[in-house]
Amino acid sequence: MYELRIRKHPILSIPKRKKIGFYWNTRRLKAYEGEVISSALFANGIHIFGHHAKDDSAQGIFCANGQCAQCMVIANGVPVKSCMTKVEENMIVESVEGLPKLPEAIEEFQFSSIEQIDIDVLIIGGGPAGLSAALELGKREIDTLIVDDKDRLGGKLVLQTHKFFGSIDECYAGTRGIDIARILADNIKTYPSVRVWLNNTVMYVFSDKKVGIVTHNNQYRVVGPKVVLNAAGAREKSLIFPGNTLPGVYGAGAFQTLVNRDLIRPAKRLFVVGGGNVGLIAAYHALQAGIDVVGLVEVLNQVGGYQVHANKIKRLGVPVYTRHTILSANGHEQVESVTVCQVNDSFRPISGTEKTFECDTVLIGTGLSPVNEFFMEAREAGINTFSAGDAQEIAEASSAMFSGKIAGLEIARELGKEDKPVPKDWYKKANTLKSHPGPITVPQYDSYPETGITPVIHCNQEIPCNPCVSVCKQGVIRIPGDSLLGKPEIANNKCIGCNKCVFICPGLAISLVDYRENLDNPVVSIPYEIYNYEYKKGDWVLLTDYEGNSLQEAVVIDTVINKASRKTQIIKVRVPKDIARQVAGFKVQRDEVTLPKNQAVLDKIPDDAIVCRCERVTAGEIRPLIRRGIKDLNQIKAITRAGMGACGGKTCENLILQMYREEGISLEEVTLNTRRPVFVEAPLGIFFNISHGRKNE
Ligand code: FES
Repeated sequence: MYELRIRKHPILSIPKRKKIGFYWNTRRLKAYEGEVISSALFANGIHIFGHHAKDDSAQGIFCANGQCAQCMVIANGVPVKSCMTKVEENMIVESVEGLPKLPEAIEEFQFSSIEQIDIDVLIIGGGPAGLSAALELGKREIDTLIVDDKDRLGGKLVLQTHKFFGSIDECYAGTRGIDIARILADNIKTYPSVRVWLNNTVMYVFSDKKVGIVTHNNQYRVVGPKVVLNAAGAREKSLIFPGNTLPGVYGAGAFQTLVNRDLIRPAKRLFVVGGGNVGLIAAYHALQAGIDVVGLVEVLNQVGGYQVHANKIKRLGVPVYTRHTILSANGHEQVESVTVCQVNDSFRPISGTEKTFECDTVLIGTGLSPVNEFFMEAREAGINTFSAGDAQEIAEASSAMFSGKIAGLEIARELGKEDKPVPKDWYKKANTLKSHPGPITVPQYDSYPETGITPVIHCNQEIPCNPCVSVCKQGVIRIPGDSLLGKPEIANNKCIGCNKCVFICPGLAISLVDYRENLDNPVVSIPYEIYNYEYKKGDWVLLTDYEGNSLQEAVVIDTVINKASRKTQIIKVRVPKDIARQVAGFKVQRDEVTLPKNQAVLDKIPDDAIVCRCERVTAGEIRPLIRRGIKDLNQIKAITRAGMGACGGKTCENLILQMYREEGISLEEVTLNTRRPVFVEAPLGIFFNISHGRKNE
């Protein structure tokens, strides 16, 4: 059995926490005070939280973010989402086997009054966009309330151990997401007009312009805002394939929550589906946490995320299979292997190309969809409503910060607290920050000098990023033109070897080649952040070029880590000058980790794949209805129950639309599910704020 908790990490500090005891069914287990039930269960090796009433299938977590309701358990007699509920001393947590029993009726109780407040601006979501907007509002002393369902501010930033792209001045480029979250949260505290309600979930925006909010200890509150800013972020998309709901298949964001927020090691060997930034970054985070990454598939000809992210994991030894898709996740009650195959030009599987890899976890990183229901409901209610960040448009967190800043200023103007218009260059910068990556090129190493000391830039795609230029006081690196978007290049030979560019590059895509001691055998400095594979002087490493092709073995001659390096380590090797400029990294994974173990014989048909995970409705139940001409999701729901479950159709709606697309039906012809209050499940009693009572014996 491998270590289930992360006790050492290259970037994250491991806090000292108090141990508490709780019960899982009849077993007494240990947890850390303050952690959510699902993480406490994972830390004890428990990934199956119950079995579904319809088909007895094993249930576990999927989103780890309160969106899917897949992780339900009974805690002290009440059904709860285990990923959102903190474990308590002596809590009795039970698995949900079939339908959960209703909690016992309460015989004596009292209604208590419901707190109501009026506010200028309600911000739903305390992530990068919400916080950036709140800073603008706070500067203008506007009465603002941020509501967030987590126990800390920062949204997805608190899951990001890597350094951010963009520019230092506009969006903290070169700083890690976890640190940006801390900076923004600290800044918020300096503005007394901004209040923060953590552990509070916005449930609905009612037609009387009131917003219902429930606290995590089930207190109900009502807020009457003049303006609503929806900065609620995004939810992960799922995929239809056989085995897609097996415990061990989850969203890439859920995985980051377990690993980087809760310091749980939920996997030993994982496979990633999707080559956008989310999937690529999740693979990197897995390596940082000491988890083997068996491979990553991307259905397109090239990954959709930044090449520097892809190359970073390829250099470490992760195979990236483009023009491949997942066929199935295989296993009895949890993932034991994954089968992938090549696709043709129509993205259909090519028979005979199947490969099966042993793994215990499959991450789905195929995209995000905006959490926009609050925006639509607030608009419909007639509230002045704005949106920012992923809730407005899916993009990088650096872009979310900028869109939040713009929304904050626009709201201030709307409230008459700001006369000046939003500067035109803010809109320009916001657009630059959400630019798609440019075409891929091949680094031109011949242009680098072979004397003195010089940075070598392995970045091979235009992306909005320039911290290497900003930190170089010698002006050695420049980007042609005045855009953030150009590719950095060498401007002069005044490098003094300060390593600042090597340390700050978010793609770990700059090395330093030093010819000063030995022209024929220069020293190459390589950035490195995976301490679980520890290297020291005298160790051998297999060097690679910028995209992970093996070059040659070399001995480590020195390692450097200091305060200025901000947790990025430098590994130094001496190599012949003919390869020095190509050296960009080295492998940490052995080839045997990533080899397919056997060829698959597909014994399942895609009709088995689950579309609605709450109600266990398969593709095979829905497809005939689509073929019969039903174009209203409400009808499909009424016939099959798809979308009727606890999550309220948040996961399956996109998948059913995907099936319509596959059948060649335009989505314009399809009627979506009618949105019904409330958007988040809660016990009915909360609307009366039942304050105390006695159980009916
Ligand atoms: S895993 Fe808990 S709600 Fe999705």
